[in-house]
Amino acid sequence: MTDWNSDTNLKEQLNFNGNQKIWAIGGGKGGVGKSLVTANLSICLSLMGYKVVAIDLDLGGANLHTCLGVPIPEKTLSDYLTKKVRTLEELLTPTPIQNLSIISGAQDDVGIANLKHMQKAKILSKIRGLDADFVLMDLGAGTTFNTLDFFISADQGILTALPEPTSIENTYRFIKSVYHRKLKMAEDLLEIGPLIDQAMNARINNNATPNELIDKVIEINPQMGRKLQAEIQSFVPKLVINQVRTQADIDIGFSMKIICKKYFGINLDYIGYLEYDATVWQSVKKRRPLLMEFPNSALVSNFDRIVHRLLKI
Ligand SMILES: Nc1ncnc2c1ncn2[C@@H]1O[C@H](COP(=O)(O)OP(=O)(O)OP(=O)(O)O)[C@@H](O)[C@H]1O
Ligand SMILES: [Mg+2]
Repeated sequence: MTDWNSDTNLKEQLNFNGNQKIWAIGGGKGGVGKSLVTANLSICLSLMGYKVVAIDLDLGGANLHTCLGVPIPEKTLSDYLTKKVRTLEELLTPTPIQNLSIISGAQDDVGIANLKHMQKAKILSKIRGLDADFVLMDLGAGTTFNTLDFFISADQGILTALPEPTSIENTYRFIKSVYHRKLKMAEDLLEIGPLIDQAMNARINNNATPNELIDKVIEINPQMGRKLQAEIQSFVPKLVINQVRTQADIDIGFSMKIICKKYFGINLDYIGYLEYDATVWQSVKKRRPLLMEFPNSALVSNFDRIVHRLLKI
């Protein structure tokens, strides 16, 4: 396990190749731990020596700053959207953690759902231009197109879910929505839209599953079929089950992986779980980052495992 308090510079040890990586943290439902995960993964990475920017894209309901122990930053994304500031760099606010800055989301009602296509494209390209090893995007709840697009644009899409039916259902809904959006965005696949819809809604074997769908499309148009196959294979969302209390809760992640494969043909990568732990609300109450306030909590080793899975080390 990583000793988060040591000065070991893992970044150097790992020969990081310098390519910036964007991770998006989403999930269909509110209150499932997206901000907690964003904040603490950001902290893990910055303690490893990476330069990290955490961005609160929960426009309208921004609270990532609280999980990172900083007061509401003076300048937020709404200042950028309303052109009060000209660059994203002007929004960078330092945190108590070395190497980690935050860009705060809008506090007013400049909701992400209202973001125009051009604004979204501009923000995304400016995010890519930030001087950081990792950019972590904390997404809002729900499945608006803009939230889906931020998720899709990331190099890694991470989903958090609670081990309860409503959250699990919302996670499937989110995955299906991302998947639909991804396929719809591939313009040349548009003409097989109805077939895709049919396969995505398949719950029982008498409807086409995505694998059967690919076979069908390959039969009709081999080139299109292979494109579809590549789209499906390249979409590997990561899953974190949060607030687990029992082994059965932990196992939900494995069941979801099997179900995603069977019904949607999607490879869900179950990267780990986070235990339910009172230190979370204690740290939120104190407005201090969990990993810094309670370095010995069970959650620290949970995060350690997840970050190692994501970095494949
Ligand atoms: N592992 C955990 N153990 C105990 N409490 C937790 C845990 N994870 C999250 N919580 C509690 O759940 C609340 C919601 O977490 P968080 O704000 O990270 O969720 P969110 O998905 O970002 O919510 P929103 O959609 O409102 O932005 C937190 O205030 C925290 O107290
Ligand atoms: Mg949040």
